[in-house]
Amino acid sequence: MARDFEKLTQYAKSFSGLTPEREALLVEVGEKIKPKLAGVTEDFYRYLLSIPEASSFLEGRVESLKKTHVRWMEGLFSGPFDSSYTEHMYKVGDVHVKVNLPVEFMAGAMTLINNRLIELIIETYGDNQKYCADILVAVSAVTGLSLIVMQQSYQESSLADELEKFLKISGMSRALFANLAAAYRDK
Ligand code: HEM
Repeated sequence: MARDFEKLTQYAKSFSGLTPEREALLVEVGEKIKPKLAGVTEDFYRYLLSIPEASSFLEGRVESLKKTHVRWMEGLFSGPFDSSYTEHMYKVGDVHVKVNLPVEFMAGAMTLINNRLIELIIETYGDNQKYCADILVAVSAVTGLSLIVMQQSYQESSLADELEKFLKISGMSRALFANLAAAYRDK
């Protein structure tokens, strides 16, 4: 069944607190922050490469991943954060599922990114305490939303794997399973 990305967007926003005001704030600070994201990305990969479990996934790909990563980070300060953003993040999650990246790498990497962004925002806007605090909350909201969506890909892909296993073990056809599931849903 096709994924309802509008519904997933609202669901992820309800947890992350990404309000229209925070979205606007991210776009507002984008002009000043985006030129500094290449540096954040350099630090991110230097850190990841120092983690043995992570570095093996990066061999031979670091330079191209850095480019992809900067583009993704620029998106955090560009918007719009609508169902097409959610669909994109869902696919990004899926790419990581396909390369067998452990699910905790998503939360781990997002924590590293947040740690570095917090420093950058304070360096840039620390003079204005209230404004700075509002930006930090907005960054936490958009990275939180991105993480929720990527983890949904992991969850759904592991359910799909379980179903594959069940069909193989039981010998049940996919059509029979779909009919049984539909009958159960109608109850
Ligand atoms: C916050 C977490 C992360 C984000 C937002 C992110 C973002 C991205 C994006 C946007 C892509 C390109 C997807 C596409 O092809 O459409 C990608 C691919 C990839 N990422 Fe990440 N990434 C994250 C964490 C990590 C970590 C922790 C690792 C490894 C330690 C990693 C390794 C990879 C690999 C191997 C690919 C596929 C490269 C390829 O074969 O094309 N990512 N990532």
